[in-house]
Amino acid sequence: MTRDKLNDLKTWFAGYVSNFYSDDPDYNHPIRLKQEHTIRVCQNTVLIGKELGISDQDIILAETMALFHDIGRFKQYEIYNTFNDFISENHARLGLRQMAVHGVLSECTAPEKRLIARAIAYHNAATLPENEDDNTLFFMRLVRDADKLDIWELFIDYYYERKNNHSAVVELGLPDDPICSQRVVESLHQHRFVRTRDLKTLNDFKLLQISWVYDLNFVPSFQIVQNRKYIEKLEKMLPQSKQIKEAVKIARDHVNSFL
Ligand SMILES: [Fe+2]
Repeated sequence: MTRDKLNDLKTWFAGYVSNFYSDDPDYNHPIRLKQEHTIRVCQNTVLIGKELGISDQDIILAETMALFHDIGRFKQYEIYNTFNDFISENHARLGLRQMAVHGVLSECTAPEKRLIARAIAYHNAATLPENEDDNTLFFMRLVRDADKLDIWELFIDYYYERKNNHSAVVELGLPDDPICSQRVVESLHQHRFVRTRDLKTLNDFKLLQISWVYDLNFVPSFQIVQNRKYIEKLEKMLPQSKQIKEAVKIARDHVNSFL
């Protein structure tokens, strides 16, 4: 992979996504969010990669993975009108099929294709595969961290603007009830990340996002979480019960333990 090739892929990506926009701004809103998300995940990947001191070649590869990690979101939205994989299909697999249909990686070498496909396939998986080589695991972890860092950014921005621009698609159709589910709060207390299938309310979704600190891999990622104050911002959006404050404190302590 070369920098020029990556730039060509970015041009292709922009053209591909442009086909999903309609004349309806409300319909377009989630598409725009995902397109902007992709650009920022690319930036986060480069940021973390540079902090980790990886080679330029590896940064280009990682950025290619970031560019395509959510390519399936656009088709998913077009077909199912949702970003909820549980009521539609796995958007990583859908994305890989789209990439195959369009021959996106035709100029990459076989090892590059494999690495890129594996990182995309596992960017949204609950756990990483066993029996995977260290190099592939490294890229999987890098993309997962970069992705999470931006979902925090995106969701916090979205939430502050929610009164003006509210989207059931972004919120996975979850009701904005003033409660958190016991099971979700317990996950945080147990240093486990929350599973999407356990979500019952929008507050659960916010707690799920806080619980991602338990699935973060690299010190520079923890540093970014702290610098951008993601946990503090998410906490402000939650009910201020003792139980929730405690759960959030445990998550914050976890972040601090890496710094
Ligand atoms: Fe994704």
